[in-house]
Amino acid sequence: MSEEEEGLKKQRYESLEDLPGVGPATAQKLKELGFHTVESLAMATVRELEPAGISEKKALAMISAARSSIGISFIRADELLKMRQNVLRLTTGSKALDKLLDGGLETQTITEFYGEYGSGKSQICHQLCVNVQLPPEKGGLNGAALYIDTENTFRTERIVQMAKHLGLDPENVVKNIIYAEAYTSDHQMFLLENADEVVKQNNVKLIVIDSLTAHFRSEYIGREMLASRQQKLNKHMHRLIRIARAFNAVAVVTNQVMAKPDMFFGDAISPIGGHIVGHTSHTRVYLRRASHGSVRIARLVSSPYLPEGEEIFKITENGIEDISEEEKPKSSGR
Ligand code: GTP
Ligand code: MG
Repeated sequence: MSEEEEGLKKQRYESLEDLPGVGPATAQKLKELGFHTVESLAMATVRELEPAGISEKKALAMISAARSSIGISFIRADELLKMRQNVLRLTTGSKALDKLLDGGLETQTITEFYGEYGSGKSQICHQLCVNVQLPPEKGGLNGAALYIDTENTFRTERIVQMAKHLGLDPENVVKNIIYAEAYTSDHQMFLLENADEVVKQNNVKLIVIDSLTAHFRSEYIGREMLASRQQKLNKHMHRLIRIARAFNAVAVVTNQVMAKPDMFFGDAISPIGGHIVGHTSHTRVYLRRASHGSVRIARLVSSPYLPEGEEIFKITENGIEDISEEEKPKSSGR
């Protein structure tokens, strides 16, 4: 490495305007494209900067500077490995559920919870917003949460309940959850595209989209709209994963299920959004109710490296909890 390169590597840029070759006008264009921070620019591709009229050469230089500024590079495999080693884990509040996920939800990837209404998707999201504020020794990330709510089901009262149970100051916990309601799928996408600055300024370590698919499902109806729906969902998910990587944050999305009446074999229930959502969300957990009221069954359906499996937990006044020995089904045959 030449001295000049060495110097470049050590350079840290706080904002877009500090990057070499980026003046106020270019910074403005980048922001219009949804890149508000050095961190998010580091995750951009040259093609994504094209609409701003930025030449390939200039785009490449800007992205490289942004990448070296935050100490990542996608060029070398050892750097990728280094990034992977920075993965942190966030507790769900249930030891059993954490075990299923090999220690909790990972940063830098997307975890999808899908299941029928009342299966506990939103409850888990609420719990994670509280847990993320815990110190690492208690399974948290000492960070804030960003909650994109598409169905108006976020409840501050529920957060207060959960925070009290963990001995946290409810007022503080509520303050550390940045809430945005998305009114349409376009609005939902817009919110996420403009989220990077909020994430950075507030030390957000958890991003929730509850529900990922509800707006898309109700707005894009029929076969002829399927392709454009998938394309938008794909873009949305990629944006999410970039933010999660850039800020070493946990990303969680929820998804409803639909019955597949034309399916004779296997599970006749499948998540909305099909394979595009499936491929970008790295870990998928299927939730369902057990016969016993508060008990839920979580099945790890896909993960890059963990085996499939099932665990049970419960939803109580306190939040997401493990079930006691007495509550465990005696012999479930599983
Ligand atoms: P949809 O968004 O409708 O698809 O469902 P969801 O999967 O998000 O369900 P959600 O997480 O909202 O779960 C709702 C269920 O959680 C309720 O039916 C209750 O069983 C349980 N629940 C929610 N709040 C409380 C609470 O304060 N106390 C207790 N004991 N249970 C609760
Ligand atoms: Mg819900």
